[in-house]
Amino acid sequence: MTEYRWVRIASSDSIPLREGRAVHVADREIALFNLGDRFLAVDNACPHRGGPLADGIVAGASVVCPLHAWKIGLETGSVERPAAGCSSSLATYPVRVEGGTIVLGLPIDLVVVAAQRSEGAAA
Ligand code: FES
Repeated sequence: MTEYRWVRIASSDSIPLREGRAVHVADREIALFNLGDRFLAVDNACPHRGGPLADGIVAGASVVCPLHAWKIGLETGSVERPAAGCSSSLATYPVRVEGGTIVLGLPIDLVVVAAQRSEGAAA
């Protein structure tokens, strides 16, 4: 079972309905999306050529990449279009809202690696 460190990100009203925003956390750039009834989060790099998914168009529980229109499922991180022959997928992150604040779950191993890099850079 994955353990998470929960990180407060932003006010829940700071991301407009059916839009995404990129956030930098623990050496990662993560795309957070407001679907109205929930927020979903995936790595902000399209599996095709790294396009910024936070700038894409939200369609249902998916986002269409702004560069070449690949469609990525936000619940699974999997490529929905083009599906044929594409086994790439993105990391997804749990999100909850606490008292109007978006809180993102980061796997503990990511947090530890980022902290070690940070300590190494400061030395
Ligand atoms: S970089 Fe996203 S579809 Fe090409």
